[in-house]
Amino acid sequence: MIKVPYSGRLITFEGGEGAGKSTQQGLLAHRLRARGLEVVTTREPGGCPLAEEIRRWVVHGQAGTITARTELLLLLAARVEHVHQVIWPALQRGAWVLCDRFLDSTLAYQGYGRGLDLVLVQQWHTWAVGSLLPDRTLWLDVAPAIGLARVGLVRPAGWAQDRFEQETLAFHQRVQDGFQTLAQASPDRIRRVDAALAPEQVANQIGMALHDLFSDT
Ligand code: TMP
Repeated sequence: MIKVPYSGRLITFEGGEGAGKSTQQGLLAHRLRARGLEVVTTREPGGCPLAEEIRRWVVHGQAGTITARTELLLLLAARVEHVHQVIWPALQRGAWVLCDRFLDSTLAYQGYGRGLDLVLVQQWHTWAVGSLLPDRTLWLDVAPAIGLARVGLVRPAGWAQDRFEQETLAFHQRVQDGFQTLAQASPDRIRRVDAALAPEQVANQIGMALHDLFSDT
């Protein structure tokens, strides 16, 4: 992956299930566009046709049907295409890229959740996409039991739980603890947002967490 300077911003939304990331991504996109900025909203796994195809394999189906290593490799394959086709070109054009999940989900889910070696997960990520790191990461913090209940409430009738939602509460707690550890280790990049609050209050916290980046534009 070629590393070149870019003038855009990469903002990632992270958190457990039902944290409200996509709602907040939409609200922030609206706010940034109102300032005249070009905004690209995207997600992982996914964000381009091949990566969306890989998403179907990774996210749908029964829990326990893919080994953790295969899951990691598929997620990283999707990321390579997504970064190459969508994220880098947008950053180089000067766009703000708002990405629903990125590296920290891999560390939290495959590292802390599945128990894969964290150093190895980080190294494979770097091998796949180079040193690209988000300019800011918003960790939408919500207790796993509350987030999972929210997901259950909003799922349309007849829709099955995805492979991650089927995991035990203990798995989701490990993921949550992982996000907390990651946030503590990188306080400049990762900002905690209380996602148990109402959406407008969460949006206000996000505005504050990005304040210094706005003032650069
Ligand atoms: P979503 O429900 O937020 O769209 O994300 C789909 C699932 O993918 C979510 O349960 C977490 C999982 N995931 C990982 O396990 N590792 C990753 O690196 C990414 C990007 C997502």
